[in-house]
Amino acid sequence: MITAFDHIAATYDNDFTHGSIGALQRQKVWDYLEKALPDSPLSILELNCGTGEDAVHLAGQGHNVLATDLSKEMVAVAKSKAENMGLGQRTTFIQCDINKIAQADFDSKFDLIFSNFGGLNCIDAMSLQNLSKVASRLLKPNGRFIGVIMPAFCVWESIYFLQKFKVKKAFRRTQRGPLLAQLNEAQVETWYYTPARIETMFRSEFKLVGLKPIGFFLPPSYLENFFRNKQGMLNKLDSMEDKVNAFSHLSNYSDHYLIDLELTKTTS
Ligand SMILES: C[S@@+](CC[C@H](N)C(=O)[O-])C[C@H]1O[C@@H](n2cnc3c(N)ncnc32)[C@H](O)[C@@H]1O
Repeated sequence: MITAFDHIAATYDNDFTHGSIGALQRQKVWDYLEKALPDSPLSILELNCGTGEDAVHLAGQGHNVLATDLSKEMVAVAKSKAENMGLGQRTTFIQCDINKIAQADFDSKFDLIFSNFGGLNCIDAMSLQNLSKVASRLLKPNGRFIGVIMPAFCVWESIYFLQKFKVKKAFRRTQRGPLLAQLNEAQVETWYYTPARIETMFRSEFKLVGLKPIGFFLPPSYLENFFRNKQGMLNKLDSMEDKVNAFSHLSNYSDHYLIDLELTKTTS
């Protein structure tokens, strides 16, 4: 099956990963992981790994990463990135749908399941609820599930579209059912979830141990062109972002938020 993300795999790093906004947002996620994770090498299962930027970062820090993605092309980019960086031994990449992760045959349990930048927005609420059960079976006791997800409202997005008089688009994340997000020529179904909704969905297996906005002051990456010659402004927004790091309620109004859940109940 060819997915919408297959078409953008070759340009994803150039457009997002190495874009000024994408890189700054990702750094916020890495800052959190650095503080939250123990120094000892962890066994990590990454969902929707894309081009493997986080997998190679985590492997570079000594962790072992089994990274998965639905898109064959994304997995191919990720694999060659890890090999070029000499991190092939600590990374494994496989093409796998989040919805089929329960059927995958893993040798052992994981310390952490990690999903960055909206992969979880590509699955519907029933699948997410089911993922909580699956994750509880795949994790070691007290294992963590860390997801970076797009909430149902984003201040930046609303201001951007309102000043263009595009009222419907300004509140598009609040609509019922999936939104068809445009990815070059292809479209991808996208669901937006408030942090409270995710917490409720995962509540029977996990407890909330961390929540922080990613992109309250930092803008969404589709504003990259606007900020191209405004690095100074972006740096200011970046330091303002650090100041609101601890204001978890701003997660409801940001481009993304990071939610950190700890396993409380192990299911066999
Ligand atoms: C916005 S990209 C994020 C990629 C990467 N995590 C990052 O931080 O750059 C979303 C990724 O989710 C993947 N994806 C979408 N639906 C998926 C699914 N059902 N199962 C697994 N991966 C999926 C896409 O192929 C894409 O690589």
